[in-house]
Amino acid sequence: MARINDHYLKLKAGYLFTEIARRVKSFQAAHPEAKIIRLGIGDVTQPLAPAVVRGLHAAVDEMASTETFRGYGPEPGYDFLTELIATSDYRERGIAMSPDEIFVSDGGKSDSANIQEIFAPDCVVAVMDPVYPVYVDSNVMAGRAGALDEAGRYSDFLYLPCTADNGFQPALPSRHVDLIYLCYPNNPTGAVMTRETLARWIDYARRERAVILYDAAYEAYVREAGVPRSIYEVAGAREVAIEFRSFSKTAGFTGTRCAFTVVPKDLHGRSGAGESVSLNALWLRRQSTKFNGVPYIVQRAAAAVYTEEGRRQVRGQIDYYMDNAAIIRAGVEAVGLTAYGGRNAPYIWVKTPRGVSSWEFFDKLLTEAHVVGTPGAGFGPSGEGYFRLTAFGRRDQTEEAVDRIKKRLTL
Ligand code: MLT
Repeated sequence: MARINDHYLKLKAGYLFTEIARRVKSFQAAHPEAKIIRLGIGDVTQPLAPAVVRGLHAAVDEMASTETFRGYGPEPGYDFLTELIATSDYRERGIAMSPDEIFVSDGGKSDSANIQEIFAPDCVVAVMDPVYPVYVDSNVMAGRAGALDEAGRYSDFLYLPCTADNGFQPALPSRHVDLIYLCYPNNPTGAVMTRETLARWIDYARRERAVILYDAAYEAYVREAGVPRSIYEVAGAREVAIEFRSFSKTAGFTGTRCAFTVVPKDLHGRSGAGESVSLNALWLRRQSTKFNGVPYIVQRAAAAVYTEEGRRQVRGQIDYYMDNAAIIRAGVEAVGLTAYGGRNAPYIWVKTPRGVSSWEFFDKLLTEAHVVGTPGAGFGPSGEGYFRLTAFGRRDQTEEAVDRIKKRLTL
């Protein structure tokens, strides 16, 4: 028998959203009459914007003709898309960016899971707690975690608690770390990080020669002026940060799959021999070996997001979800629960009633209101006592869910 990667055995039972799906399926089997509303996984429900669909159709037609057919594309993405991203998402906002610093991919999930591969196995990892589970699990698989304790913490990670007391903005590490995962607007808490705080993280990373892995998948949801949408808005970030972005939540691509990762050419790591190595070159090498690029038709669809019509339509979808967020937040507050987030992010982070754990609240909401959310504990030990609802549902279902919470939930 082939020896397996033992680090996989250190993972917690199942991937969070797979576990939730399993529980919901078994509840539905036992209660076939229940009309379950899913506000658990952050999956979009609005169809692709008409401009995007038109871009997709036109590209499919190109693939149907010998003259315009495309086979393998460039692994980091077609120039037409990397140019658009560099210009529209960065340069037009005053941020220096070159198209060859953009790597188009099939998702922020895969990129944020894969990026750790270009770093040494003994790099010390800091993660926010609660956290998007992919950052933790991918480092567990790679052998950076150590042992799991009863509270659900791995011994070799540095956990950065994000609580209501610190406004869900963690304190700087009190010791040296090599890799820091930050996500703002935050999944799951819905919090944002101010420019000043981000600047302190960048200073820390420069001082410690650490790399910040900055997940900005929800940047399009920032409403308040002055809240950074990209880490590169803050001086010095190009030397210390990799940024993950996605069309999933911005333009409804969760099923279509397109995202991008920015690895600035100013960013370097150190080899075992002490030489400085470009992380941009390393990531390019990794992607060209293990990835064949995003389908041409999908990249054309993504490019259509940047047309005037595309921008307008996509903004309309984001407004729609943010109106849902306001409905959910007002609804849970109306029944006396404390809620955070939902103002610059599509997630509402609800404090569970005293003495009710987050998985107990999950069961309660499912059983009494037939509404699915995500238990905070699934995002890490500091998520215990919280519960996440997503604003990505359909409006009628969101309103119905809030109505049921008001009428059926016993608190
Ligand atoms: C979430 O619900 O946290 C996200 O949808 C998961 C993801 O983006 O992979």
